[in-house]
Amino acid sequence: MTDTLDETFSAGTDLAPFGRVVSAPANGLTLADIAIENLLATTSASTVLVLRGYGMLGKPELEQYCRAGGDLLTWDFGAILDLNIRENPQNYLFDNGDVPFHWDGAFAKAVPRFFLFQCVDGGPPGAGGETVFCDTTQVYREAPEQLRELWQRTEITYRTDKLAHYGGVLTAALVSTHPISGEPVIRFAEPLDPARYRNPLFLTVEGITPEEAEVVLAELRTRLHDSRYCYTHAWQTGDIVVVDNHTVLHGRNSFTGPPQRHLQRIQIL
Ligand SMILES: [Fe+2]
Repeated sequence: MTDTLDETFSAGTDLAPFGRVVSAPANGLTLADIAIENLLATTSASTVLVLRGYGMLGKPELEQYCRAGGDLLTWDFGAILDLNIRENPQNYLFDNGDVPFHWDGAFAKAVPRFFLFQCVDGGPPGAGGETVFCDTTQVYREAPEQLRELWQRTEITYRTDKLAHYGGVLTAALVSTHPISGEPVIRFAEPLDPARYRNPLFLTVEGITPEEAEVVLAELRTRLHDSRYCYTHAWQTGDIVVVDNHTVLHGRNSFTGPPQRHLQRIQIL
């Protein structure tokens, strides 16, 4: 099937305001029927790629499939993270609240180029928990020149305790360059207020004055959440979603119904 896949992908449908959804052209296909190079190239071109109707892979098969596209980021639990809501979690990823914008692998040894989710259980419709993706290249492109100049001078130090699989201290430029496309991208993790989130994240803005820092943070709060730049994915069981991690920031809406959803996530360096 893989030789016809270019055709299949070109027959996919654009999502709004960005992204692409491709439905399996026949029954009985799985993710493994798509050549990994094709999958990743299509993801790079569309930023977020949603596959529907392709069978999901078991964990060992998923690792083997993704490893053909690059090294995998591994953690103390291995390469695949089970994202589900847990009893008395220490980290906000596993409770039923929202997950503010961030990029994956900020505290890891290397930032993955891509991450892939398999939706084992989408839960009941309308229960919230949608994943929100923000296309930061577009945010940057459409920001006024003066603001872009301010963003360019901004560095942020992030600090969080390692209560789940990540943590530590990290300093990152707010504007970075996409390693493949060369486009400016925004790297920003939203602060997590200890009054509201388990495992809070503290930010110190550097390189600019405190007054400028206030402007930077206020503009990010508004612009990153502008619906013109955000694709919101409501999960259905069986969805496979592949994401260009260098381009987007992502987060999760809180659950408003039973938080039954179960995703598996793997990250490709
Ligand atoms: Fe994430």
